Amino acid sequence: MFRIVKAKEFQAECESLRLDGRTIGLVPTMGALHSGHRQLITMARDQCDIVAVSIFVNELQFDNPVDLEKYPRVVDKDLEIASSLGVDLVFTPESADMHPRPTLFHLEVDRLGDILEGASRPGHFAGVATVVAKLFTLAGRCKAYFGEKDFQQLSVISRMVEELHFPVEIVPVPIVRDTSGLAFSSRNLRLDSEQLKSALSLSRALFAARDAIAGGEKDTGKIEELMVRELRREIAGIAQSNQPELDYALVVDPLTLVEPERIDGPVRLLVAARVGGVRLIDNIGV
Ligand code: PAJ
Repeated sequence: MFRIVKAKEFQAECESLRLDGRTIGLVPTMGALHSGHRQLITMARDQCDIVAVSIFVNELQFDNPVDLEKYPRVVDKDLEIASSLGVDLVFTPESADMHPRPTLFHLEVDRLGDILEGASRPGHFAGVATVVAKLFTLAGRCKAYFGEKDFQQLSVISRMVEELHFPVEIVPVPIVRDTSGLAFSSRNLRLDSEQLKSALSLSRALFAARDAIAGGEKDTGKIEELMVRELRREIAGIAQSNQPELDYALVVDPLTLVEPERIDGPVRLLVAARVGGVRLIDNIGV
């Protein structure tokens, strides 16, 4: 496994591998690799000749400086995990190289970027789109792996590839959960054991709503109420300060992310809540 730090070197390496006839699978991450990331890497390993993982905590996508500062940075451990999964290239750029200062250019994300996560985190998707566009420019023609865990991010990036004509095929990867149902996330590292129990209410709300839809419920409002009820239901034995604080619980169309009046086809259920000050998101397809 090679580690590359310079953007230009990463670009040259990808170019030369492609000239040799190898296909490239790109897995963009911010590090602190967990089982969710592992799944992306494993899929890329199965489908591509070369697997390139980028590890870069992109400051452009953090609206909250405390969040950026608290983001876990464990590069040595990440390199071990990447190597054990058969990764060929790890790209760990420095901020000044990814985003030469003062920056003059960045992408804006209309509509899709302002709703849901974008409403709570202004500028977040502009930051994501800008860094991912740069990664795509460096990697060149490739398959790129994104988790459904960040469903809106996947929608934004898919739309960006279509609209800006990047020679990149986006491969969506289903959410990886632990046995209790909790979706793996780097943010889980910031939760104590009581908060982890409380965090389970997100997936519980989603599973309850999925079951209700499977049982024939087609009323969007009723499904949303059910999720809100689940998320607001006080969890016995957990301190008030650690109970989940709901942000949104919505039924949306999986392509437009707009709420349908009734559930007559495939939908995505999306929830976001804070637990102990940490913002968590989860979703499920029905
Ligand atoms: P990060 O949060 O490190 O996530 C990297 C990738 O792993 C994303 O595509 C995310 O959706 C996926 N992922 C995270 N948890 C997952 C889970 N439990 N199951 C399946 N996939 C999961 O997302 C980012 O980084 C950044 O925004 C990035 C795209 C790298 C741009 O900076």
